[in-house]
Order: sequence, then C-alpha cells, then structure tokens
Amino acid sequence: MRTILIIGATSAIAAATARLFAQDGDRLFLVARNEERLKATADDLAVRSRNLAGYRNLDVNVLEAHQSVLEDAEAALGGLDIAFVAHGTLPDQWRCQGSPELTVEEFRTNAVSTIALLTRLAERMERNGRGRIAVITSVAADRGRQSNYVYGAAKAAVDTFLEGLRQRLYKAGVGVTVIRPGFVDTPMTAAFSKGLLWTTPEAVARSIHAAIVKGKDVVYVPFFWRWIMLVIRFMPRSLFKRISL
Ligand SMILES: NC(=O)c1ccc[n+]([C@@H]2O[C@H](COP(=O)([O-])OP(=O)(O)OC[C@H]3O[C@@H](n4cnc5c(N)ncnc54)[C@H](OP(=O)(O)O)[C@@H]3O)[C@@H](O)[C@H]2O)c1
Repeated sequence: MRTILIIGATSAIAAATARLFAQDGDRLFLVARNEERLKATADDLAVRSRNLAGYRNLDVNVLEAHQSVLEDAEAALGGLDIAFVAHGTLPDQWRCQGSPELTVEEFRTNAVSTIALLTRLAERMERNGRGRIAVITSVAADRGRQSNYVYGAAKAAVDTFLEGLRQRLYKAGVGVTVIRPGFVDTPMTAAFSKGLLWTTPEAVARSIHAAIVKGKDVVYVPFFWRWIMLVIRFMPRSLFKRISL
C-alpha cells in the first residue's frame, strides 16, 4: 500500500487517476479548491476504497497555506510515498495578450503555485530519503505557440524546474515524473470542438498510473504526442514563425 497526496484532486484527470490508485488499495489524501467538488470526489473514492486518509481544501495561490496542508496530509497518510500535482487553468490567450494582470495571474496558478508546492515537497521527500513527485505539465510546454504561449510558458517553467529537481533528488532516492498530456476531453477543454487527436481522462489516467508505478521520468499521454512534439520542436525557427499553430 502506497501513501499518496493528490493536489488538484477534483480535476477530471486527477480524479480518474485517484480511482486507479484506490483500486490498488493505496491510501489517499485529496487537496482541491472547490469544497463541494472535493467532498463529492472524496465520497466517490470512499465508496471504492477503505483507504481514504482525508481531504483538505486549498486555493493553491494562497502560498502561505501550503505548509500546513502538506503537514496535515503527511500526518493523515502516515508518510508520503507519492505526491501527484494536477491543478491548472487554461488561460484565454487572446485576453491575456491585452492584460498583463491576467497573464501574471495565470502564470501564478500554472507555474508559481506549483513551483512553491514542489519546493516544500522536495524538502520533505529529500529528508525522508524516498518518494516520488509526479506533475502534470503539458505538450504545450515543448514549444511556445501563438495560440497558447501564456499557458505553454507557465508549463515549461514547471517542466524545467522539475528537470533540475529530478537531478537533485536522484541522489536522495526520490523520483520525479513529468506527465505531458495532449488534448483531453475535460471541463478545462469543454468549449473546444473535439477530433481524432482527443482522448478521455480515463485513458490518460491509465497511462499516468502506469508511469508513476513504473517510476518513469517523462511521459507523453497518449504516447503519440512524443512524435508530434518532436516534429514541432525541431521545426526550423525561420519556418515556425511563419505558420499558425
Ligand atoms: N485537458 C487537457 O487537454 C489538458 C492537456 C494538457 C495538460 N492538462 C493539464 O492537466 C491538469 C488537469 O486538468 P484537467 O484537464 O483535468 O482539467 P479540470 O478538470 O478543469 O481540472 C483543473 C483543476 O485545477 C484546479 N484548480 C484551478 N485553479 C486552482 C487553484 N487556484 N487552486 C486549487 N485548484 C485549482 C481546479 O479546481 P476547481 O475544481 O476548484 O476549479 C480543477 O480541479 C492541469 O494541470 C492541466 O493544465 C490538461
């Protein structure tokens, strides 16, 4: 039985992943902002598993609250094997372009809050000499595109932070898993028309669960995004700046 903290636990992807860990008999502690949705997610998991250790409400942008939430989680779980960080927002790129305030706010939710949480989590796990940190970033982190570079830049900041953290924590026996999903049909993307490249939170959750259990460093979900992003990453800048993506 593993002890698992999930931050952003009401996210469709996180909730589907939590159900898989609950099936394994793992002990879970949930953290999310919306109290009603958090309770509903916790109630659903409690029906599936006797191992729900507890849940706590947190707006991740209230950085001063992080420490006490992590203390509560570790105490309720009786240890901390895995911390899975899943919260996020998808900014309206066009509105951000006209508003430095909104751009900074989105950066705060998608990058600053996560980096602050990771700083505390890393310290704890390094001290414990074991554990795994898993974070959802995005394929958008791979290259800035005009359609979503505010979101992509925030996810890239987290991704780069995690690359360095992985090197540091390796020596302490702590692993870091970066999860880069493509298009997933969740409340975040409700307004988008869906096509061939889209997948479900349940399918993505199966890949995330496997990646965490196997201790992978970086996964693209679904896997084919690795090849799509390889083409996008290596496209010459002189061509890239001329196309609309
Ligand atoms: N869906 C996609 O296509 C896609 C693709 C690539 C990456 N991702 C990433 O996958 C992760 C999960 O997203 P999802 O698709 O499952 O979307 P989702 O169902 O809309 O979940 C987003 C979650 O983030 C939480 N959140 C937002 N701001 C918060 C704050 N200030 N404090 C605490 N929690 C906050 C939301 O909490 P509330 O319930 O309180 O609103 C919600 O639970 C995100 O990191 C997202 O960027 C998604």
